[in-house]
Amino acid sequence: MKWYAGSDHAGLELRRELVAVLRDRGEEVEDLGTDSPESVDYPDYGQAVAKRVVAESALGLLVCGTGNGIAMSANKVKGARAALVTESFTARMARMHNDANIIVFGSRVVGAGTAAEALKAFCDAEFEGGRHQRRVDKMMAAEE
Ligand code: RB5
Repeated sequence: MKWYAGSDHAGLELRRELVAVLRDRGEEVEDLGTDSPESVDYPDYGQAVAKRVVAESALGLLVCGTGNGIAMSANKVKGARAALVTESFTARMARMHNDANIIVFGSRVVGAGTAAEALKAFCDAEFEGGRHQRRVDKMMAAEE
């Protein structure tokens, strides 16, 4: 599965660490930046990643300071299901129950080690379908 990654300036360092985690696992990751510590606007990166994820049925990794701004921005893109997580259980459930296609972290909230474990849990989990498909369908119907 192809991955797209992005962050604002606040998420730059953690994003780079997590992209390395994905690549170490053999994942193909296209990193859309930002590539400098200069202040940028998180919607630009959240929406760029979400658009590619939805268009290509890929997966996404997003980071900003809290994770909230970039997650909210991504979730404005039709078809995006961006889950803000702080630990492995929520990350796993985001995939198994919510069919999340983007995982989001706050670099000022979670440490790199915890984020890496949560990212791996997300990667290892699969959507369960069944009753969860019905609920995801209802969630996505609100976009119509
Ligand atoms: C940038 O200072 C900060 O507002 C941003 O990274 C994020 O936390 C917004 O939700």
